[in-house]
Amino acid sequence: MARILVTGGTGYIGSHTTVELMQQGYDVVIIDNLSNSTSDVLDGIEAIVGTRPAFEQVDCNDAQAVADVFTKYTDIQGVIHFAASKAVGESVEQPLMYYRNNLMSLVTLLEQMKAHNVHNIVFSSSCTVYGQPAEEHLPVDETAPIQVALSPYGNTKQINEEIIRDEAHANTQLHATILRYFNPIGAHPSAMIGELPNGVPQNLLPFVTQTAIGLRPELKVFGDDYNTPDGSCIRDYIYVVDLAKAHVKAVERMLNHQAKEQVEVFNLGTGRGLSVLEILNTFMQVTGVKVPYQIVGRREGDIEQVWAKPDKANNVLGWKADTPIEDVLLSAWRWEQKIRS
Ligand code: UD1
Repeated sequence: MARILVTGGTGYIGSHTTVELMQQGYDVVIIDNLSNSTSDVLDGIEAIVGTRPAFEQVDCNDAQAVADVFTKYTDIQGVIHFAASKAVGESVEQPLMYYRNNLMSLVTLLEQMKAHNVHNIVFSSSCTVYGQPAEEHLPVDETAPIQVALSPYGNTKQINEEIIRDEAHANTQLHATILRYFNPIGAHPSAMIGELPNGVPQNLLPFVTQTAIGLRPELKVFGDDYNTPDGSCIRDYIYVVDLAKAHVKAVERMLNHQAKEQVEVFNLGTGRGLSVLEILNTFMQVTGVKVPYQIVGRREGDIEQVWAKPDKANNVLGWKADTPIEDVLLSAWRWEQKIRS
């Protein structure tokens, strides 16, 4: 079976994807600089799969170290590139760090792939590239216009997509799959791996679970005066395990030479938008835990509503996110309980 190089494989989405790849029989080598994760994640992966993935502590910006990985693992047939900094607020404060880290790592990786005759890459992008889509583009399909990014983080996703397109144009051997994720949440059903935010969580679900367990006094709901049915923002929350499975499909499609275009783009979402208050209320219902919350003002830069039209991923990739939101929220809660026990 083929080996897949997973950059950022000890991170949140990377670890779940590694599990799904290994369960489908792929060999994996993870590279990660452990800047936002720890090698304990490898224990979690091993506990689920029964085998430990190969791991190299390497920064994707370090060309020599990346080259050494390709030299050591001669059976690598594809790369899934997750490794990146992803905190929106931090990217506004430290744009150069974000541009250096997120752009140079992709450039380095593409250079080394070419030098070592590896021609398949899956890139971890985001629905953030669509900004707030106009009403006629909701739900969002892959043809919706890309809008000016609201943060350096978002801009790095857009520029990285362009880097991939330009390189694919010049290097006709390269095949790329760009996956635009909506809002990944939840944890593996085994509770062996999950999301481990650094410091105060910025994303909704980790904040909800940390409040539920008593680490935070209350959740702040950012705005209830949006033009939505209950006034809170709407997102397309997708189960991280469903999302991980889409990566396996994308890899299979490239390795089996089924891709119709050199660069293919897929939106990965459920097709269903849920509001912040719906998430909160469903969480309280399924867990039976009361989460104290307060409605506060809007968060700067927030988008009112966005959800996916996942038809292309459903039909072309043969993939569907179908885990019920109740199960997803319970998985997040079980994970929070596990890491605090
Ligand atoms: C954010 C980023 C997005 C990035 C994604 C990564 C912004 C504007 N967007 O998406 O670029 O790809 O994270 O996961 O930061 N909320 C609360 N209280 C909280 C936290 C969040 O009410 O304490 C609300 C937010 O206002 C939003 C929803 O929950 O309506 C989801 O927020 P979040 O999880 O941060 O995701 P996004 O903002 O969609």
